[in-house]
Amino acid sequence: MDYKKYIAEKLSIEGISQDELYEMIALPPNLEMGDYALPCFKLAKLMRKSPVMIAETLRDTLMADESVINEKVLKEVSAVNGYLNFKINKTDFVKATLEKILSEKDSYGSSNEGEGKTVCIDYSSINIAKPFHIGHLSTTVLGGALYRIFNFLGYKAVGINHLGDYGTQFGKLISAYKRWGDKETIEKGGIRALNELYVKFHQEAEEHPEYDDEARAYFKKIEQGDSECLALFHWFKELTLKDVQKIYDMLDIRFDSYAGESFYSDKMQPIVDELKEKGLLVESRGAQVVDLEAYNMPPCIILKSDGSSLYATRDMAAAQYRKNTYDFDKCLYVVAYQQNLHFKQFFKVLELMGKDWAKDLVHVAYGMVSLEEGTMSTRKGNVVFLEDVINKCIEKAYKIIDDKNPNLENKEEVAQKVGVGAVIFGALYNNKIKDIVFSYDKVLNFDGETSVYVQYTCARANSVLQKGGIPESYEIPELTSQEIELVKAISTLPETVKAAGEKYEPSLIARFAVDVAQKFNKFYFDCKILSAEDEKTKNFRLALTNAAMQALKNAFALLGIGIPDKM
Ligand code: ARG
Repeated sequence: MDYKKYIAEKLSIEGISQDELYEMIALPPNLEMGDYALPCFKLAKLMRKSPVMIAETLRDTLMADESVINEKVLKEVSAVNGYLNFKINKTDFVKATLEKILSEKDSYGSSNEGEGKTVCIDYSSINIAKPFHIGHLSTTVLGGALYRIFNFLGYKAVGINHLGDYGTQFGKLISAYKRWGDKETIEKGGIRALNELYVKFHQEAEEHPEYDDEARAYFKKIEQGDSECLALFHWFKELTLKDVQKIYDMLDIRFDSYAGESFYSDKMQPIVDELKEKGLLVESRGAQVVDLEAYNMPPCIILKSDGSSLYATRDMAAAQYRKNTYDFDKCLYVVAYQQNLHFKQFFKVLELMGKDWAKDLVHVAYGMVSLEEGTMSTRKGNVVFLEDVINKCIEKAYKIIDDKNPNLENKEEVAQKVGVGAVIFGALYNNKIKDIVFSYDKVLNFDGETSVYVQYTCARANSVLQKGGIPESYEIPELTSQEIELVKAISTLPETVKAAGEKYEPSLIARFAVDVAQKFNKFYFDCKILSAEDEKTKNFRLALTNAAMQALKNAFALLGIGIPDKM
């Protein structure tokens, strides 16, 4: 049961919607005050009364409401200093929450609110033959989490890897490969070898400007469908995708489409024609642009003076294609905030073209990830390969685990889950727009707000369940505050998942997990589980442990993080 919703419904105040009321209802800092509270000063303007009077009036109305009296959901309503405090009937609440979790199991937290609706999610969207570096971490794990979250909410999620596979850089790569490359080295070295070729090209081209002309010519050949050039291009692409697949597998990331920029080569003309037809294209220094001065933005360039397309042109064709193909309700672009202007521009141009679905395009922007100073990989300048970061985290996790519990079985497997989890959680724990400084010590801290803290808590709970067994039935005993706090925490998964979807903010789920783990540990240390005072209490505590585990498992599944049985 959603108590906030219940309270909002019962309150029903004129001039304010139930949703707004819902948002206003807060959790008081301690249980003595109540389980929920409505700060009435927020209503003072609307109701033209003092908060103290509002609280008292609302209390009196509620207490006189027959349905409130009969339903026995609220145990106590009090007005204190302008706050309306609610105490709920805990026994019923705890019983209902546990029943819900233990019967819904892996689907606890899911809903069908998205039934019949489609959400396209453009994420990871790597560049072919370029390093898959630490900068791609956020888009990949954020997008992956949103993909699972929307599916869990009943939407049909379409994961799209909008590959950067278009542009003169592929001409450069062909030129470099023909001059210095050999098949075996590239085949073996994958992205790293391709990147080295690319870097070499740039160095050499400084002294040989003619290489650049050659590269442009090769790119033209790709576009014209020259079979040798196309074959090389496809080979580069294949090698890149094979290389990154290892990382996607580790991070539990999947896509429904790999339609990248080159896929839209033949789909841009209709957009250009339409822009012309609608009188939106103007010439500016030889280029074709859409003027956006009225919207305080620089012009959106559609065609360069040589007639070639741009990143924005391909994105517009892609948006139209996605609308036609998937008929999305929302199309999300999980891309760093550095590209804010790009998205604002082409969204605006689509809107000016009269496409009413332009309002359904959302740039889900996120902050930068950098590595702590001193941990920078020295491999190639300042490029830090994501694969190296993940492997280093797994290695470090192994050392810690081996130190703490040398006799543990499957140490490698546990280290894998802990290490990968730490990387994912490190990227997802904070509000997405914040810049993050990634620190190995921080993400692997067993006592921090980390995935390994949550995983360790689960292992602890698992061990209790293994010893005590999962009770077939249980009753609700006299409740302790630790138990109530834990149940309250786990009861919020459904609303947390919903909010994570609405705000495109998987960090809410990561925070939920840490909160539940902290409350579980408090319960675990303060209340005896296996040696509880009586059988009734023991059974209940085992059931509660089981429910808390389930809630954590579901939350972590949405983030793409595994939970080892033992640690
Ligand atoms: N490949 C681009 C980059 O690395 C990101 C593409 C994002 N998606 C999009 N539809 N523009 O910057």
